[in-house]
Amino acid sequence: MKMITCIAPINMAVIKYWGKRDEELILPINDSISASLSTDVMCAKTTIVTSALLKENKFWLNGQEQSFDSPRLTNCLRAIKKRADEKLPHLHWNISICSENNFPTAAGLASSAAGYACLVYALAQLYNIEGEISNIARQGSGSACRSIYGGWVRWHKGNSPVGEDSLAKQIVPADHWPEMRLLVLVVNDTKKKYSSAKGMAITTLTSSLIKYRANEIVPRRIEAMEQAILNKNFQSFAELTMKDSNSMHACCLDSFPPIAYMNEVSHSIIQLVHLYNDYKKELTVAYTVDAGPNTCIYLLESEVEDFLSIVNFVFPNNVDDNEYYRGLKLPSIRPLDES
Ligand code: ADP
Ligand code: DP6
Ligand code: CO
Repeated sequence: MKMITCIAPINMAVIKYWGKRDEELILPINDSISASLSTDVMCAKTTIVTSALLKENKFWLNGQEQSFDSPRLTNCLRAIKKRADEKLPHLHWNISICSENNFPTAAGLASSAAGYACLVYALAQLYNIEGEISNIARQGSGSACRSIYGGWVRWHKGNSPVGEDSLAKQIVPADHWPEMRLLVLVVNDTKKKYSSAKGMAITTLTSSLIKYRANEIVPRRIEAMEQAILNKNFQSFAELTMKDSNSMHACCLDSFPPIAYMNEVSHSIIQLVHLYNDYKKELTVAYTVDAGPNTCIYLLESEVEDFLSIVNFVFPNNVDDNEYYRGLKLPSIRPLDES
């Protein structure tokens, strides 16, 4: 018998991935950039057991059995096994996968990113695979390719029709900008109506705005964002982050039928951020929202106390004991145990 347990971080995009040019291979229409969070509070934890005695393959997520035949899981497993040494005896045994997220699943907090990065990393450990695996994690969930690396990460969309160059690369490690923090304001922790996959498929098919975003806006913005991160220019970083989140959600609303991931509370938080920045006379906090209502705030450590006290004042019932005040200090992905 062999067993491996890994944990992997979520990542929060500042230039968003929204739209695929290939649904099955999960190839995006634009590059994206995110930061991988430290795994000390929000993470996916996955254990894989393999044994000659296992009668069938099994997959549990948060205590509930899932189908083992999903195309995404099958594609990841196939891609990993292709890289393994055929002579490895346990390569041909059945496996049992058990994964848990310690934060809301399918609520716009990047559970698919942490989940598939963790799964693919654990499989790579199990079958002794070395080298690039972000393009395999991508086949589980696009955003998962970025969670393979720590710090600030760019997913290069690539040009190949088969996707071997559509992978993530680290821009800089997290200690490049050690003062950076992320507040995750949980507005609603229930499962969203449209998964990210479904939402972006509708947008890609029906929105005309998404073409302008992918071909004109993001290519310029992505270079400016990389520079802002390299130069630790918070003003530029904040402006680009907020505008890109708005652009993604505008494309969602431009879809037919329109997709509204944000709710009234998300919009109130956004207004609060603008008021707060106006009051401070510079951009000191930046919001970004994934495919869900939950609203994330990038800010520097020096700003956390002030901003949180305002948030707690304006939303006393929601975020007073918000458990998702997250550091962005030590991104990591590591095997916990191997036997
Ligand atoms: P999110 O915004 O949370 O990433 P998505 O719609 O992108 O939401 O993806 C949610 C789906 O990702 C879940 O329904 C499940 O299929 C998959 N997923 C989430 N967590 C894990 C995990 N730990 N391991 C494997 N798959 C996961
Ligand atoms: C809004 O990676 O979850 O979080 O590739 O279909 O699994 P699939 O979608 P997913 O989409 C993430 C979209 C986003 C923005 C981002 O993380 O870049
Ligand atoms: Co996702």
